[in-house]
Amino acid sequence: MSNATQLIHSIPVDPLTGAISVPIYQTSTFVQEAPGVNKGYDYARTGNPTRAALESIVAKLENGSTGIAFGSGLAAIDAIVKLLESGDEIVAVDDIYGGAFRLFTQVYKKFGITVHYVDATDAANVFNAITPKTKLIWIETPTNPTLKIADIEAIAKIAKANRCLLCVDNTFASPALQQPLTLGADIVVHSGTKYLGGHSDLVAGLVITKDAELGAKVKFLQNACGAILGPFDSWLLIRGIETLHLRIRQHGASAQAVAEYLEKHPAVDKVFYPGLPSHPNHDIAKKQSKGFGGIVSFTLKNDTEQAATAFVTSTELFHLAESLGGIKSLLCHPAQMTHKTIPVAQRRAAGVSDSLIRLSVGLEETEDIIADLEKTFAKLQSAQHNTKKETITI
Ligand SMILES: Cc1ncc(COP(=O)(O)O)c(C=O)c1O
Repeated sequence: MSNATQLIHSIPVDPLTGAISVPIYQTSTFVQEAPGVNKGYDYARTGNPTRAALESIVAKLENGSTGIAFGSGLAAIDAIVKLLESGDEIVAVDDIYGGAFRLFTQVYKKFGITVHYVDATDAANVFNAITPKTKLIWIETPTNPTLKIADIEAIAKIAKANRCLLCVDNTFASPALQQPLTLGADIVVHSGTKYLGGHSDLVAGLVITKDAELGAKVKFLQNACGAILGPFDSWLLIRGIETLHLRIRQHGASAQAVAEYLEKHPAVDKVFYPGLPSHPNHDIAKKQSKGFGGIVSFTLKNDTEQAATAFVTSTELFHLAESLGGIKSLLCHPAQMTHKTIPVAQRRAAGVSDSLIRLSVGLEETEDIIADLEKTFAKLQSAQHNTKKETITI
């Protein structure tokens, strides 16, 4: 049976009423027959049936034992860092999501947790950064926004040999394309806000663990610290996940066409997309994923923030916004938006140059998406021609 069929039939029919859609249990507490005698739920921070249905669906989707749903992707990341103790070290991918970088440096540094950032496209860099204090390896693959690819299986072997946990942020690929736990990782995290939700209408986070004991530790931390996902958003996330495979297929087909179009455009310098044979780790992406996802980044020959700003404010279909993975195409300028908390030199060293633009290719028709990019390039070129002003050249 295909993954998509299994997913659809892992969403339970309500045993009490036969409702085909998972009911929203909008309640804070559950009546008990006697102290401690209940129907499996006592207080809704600890557990809620709608959230439990979501958690069980995502655990199956990622081939894990335990799913835990949080109020945001960052809350999910935060719960994993809380597994560590003062003095522990993390080895993390260098172009990590900006919010995770901010959490590590501006919150956890003062609690004595040190992070070493490496280019994880070469597994040897991860190996070389490990010290006796390293307890956690943190990768995203593809990364945000330069779409770098790390070899999950190779890094999982390094993690095991050095008794570290390997956590993979699988937000960009989604389990429809890539299952890191099957490739040897211990933990997967998601910003459910993105492809899993899929409609830009909620903020959510997920942790999925391979091992039930580790899952119980994360569940304990969630209950102790309180960052749960509410019942309505849990339901909304289930509803988004129902169409995950179909959406991801279309996002990927259009993104591939967009990447190929951009690669030929004279105003474009570099295109970052793992589906292009020119991508340095295209073969690894092919080996570990069923497809290459819906995010494409590119830089302009005129590598300035001004040129990028002119581009991102001139599109018609692509809306300028943070976030990604929804049905409507979005674009953003990481240097001024998602990655502005990363020091400039470090950002540039990680490949996020001043003109880099990230596209989240939506579910509009492929030719309309490309036509919007084509019109934008043409508009900016003609404005440059008419005014001859440096400020709007691309
Ligand atoms: C790769 C990645 N991980 C985690 C997050 C954080 O998720 P959230 O915004 O749901 O807290 C984001 C948000 O953009 C992201 O892109």
